[in-house]
Amino acid sequence: MKVLIVGANGNTATRVVRRLVDSAHDPVAMIRDVGHRAKFDALGVPTVFADLEYPVDHALNGVDAVIFAAGSGGHTGKDKTVLVDHIGAIRTMVAASVAGVPRYIMLSSINNDVNSTSPIAHYHKAKAHADNHLRETDLDYSIVCPGRLTDVEATERVAVSTGLHGRGDTSRENLAAVLVACLDRPNTIGKTFSLLDGDVPIDNALDAL
Ligand SMILES: NC(=O)c1ccc[n+]([C@@H]2O[C@H](COP(=O)([O-])OP(=O)(O)OC[C@H]3O[C@@H](n4cnc5c(N)ncnc54)[C@H](OP(=O)(O)O)[C@@H]3O)[C@@H](O)[C@H]2O)c1
Repeated sequence: MKVLIVGANGNTATRVVRRLVDSAHDPVAMIRDVGHRAKFDALGVPTVFADLEYPVDHALNGVDAVIFAAGSGGHTGKDKTVLVDHIGAIRTMVAASVAGVPRYIMLSSINNDVNSTSPIAHYHKAKAHADNHLRETDLDYSIVCPGRLTDVEATERVAVSTGLHGRGDTSRENLAAVLVACLDRPNTIGKTFSLLDGDVPIDNALDAL
């Protein structure tokens, strides 16, 4: 599958790209800064330039699957959370549907909720609205909701649940492994699940969904 990674220069997304290079799939890195291109050139990964605050349709043409791993981050204003995590995400879903892209895998967040009252409610609401939109599309979606992201090495052991509230850490490496694994797992289509570091090998955890 030709897989578009949205937000490819990000900490998790770069790990996704590296894993896809070693897989049967063909990654395409969606980036917004020409200065990031060399990293992907060195990996032999093609790039496409698109910014989630503007039309992205050109990036979706000819793609078989999308892994959305972009985000405005914690250091931007709440306006950017809406523009990127909410509207920007929906922009890619609409473009995917129009382009006939069948598969869409969303990196979301645990505790996302349109009625969130958490200290980062603006973020949890934006992610929830985007996820709700995705569930209403005709796309074959999977929505993966990690906890607090860390840079510890992959244990390849996780805890998944269709209960979407909780607390805990998720290694970006484990998360990248799960996002990539979903591509080859039809049983994850139509599923929304939380993902924390845990004790169960990834394959077994995903089998149980
Ligand atoms: N941090 C946590 O503990 C946590 C917990 C649960 C879920 N999450 C979710 O996980 C996601 C990935 O986390 P991460 O740490 O890997 O993220 P990250 O390193 O901050 O990467 C986010 C990527 O999104 C890209 N981006 C931002 N605005 C964009 C725009 N307008 N158009 C195109 N790309 C844009 C950035 O591009 P540039 O490289 O050009 O800046 C960056 O590469 C987060 O965004 C968040 O939604 C995070």
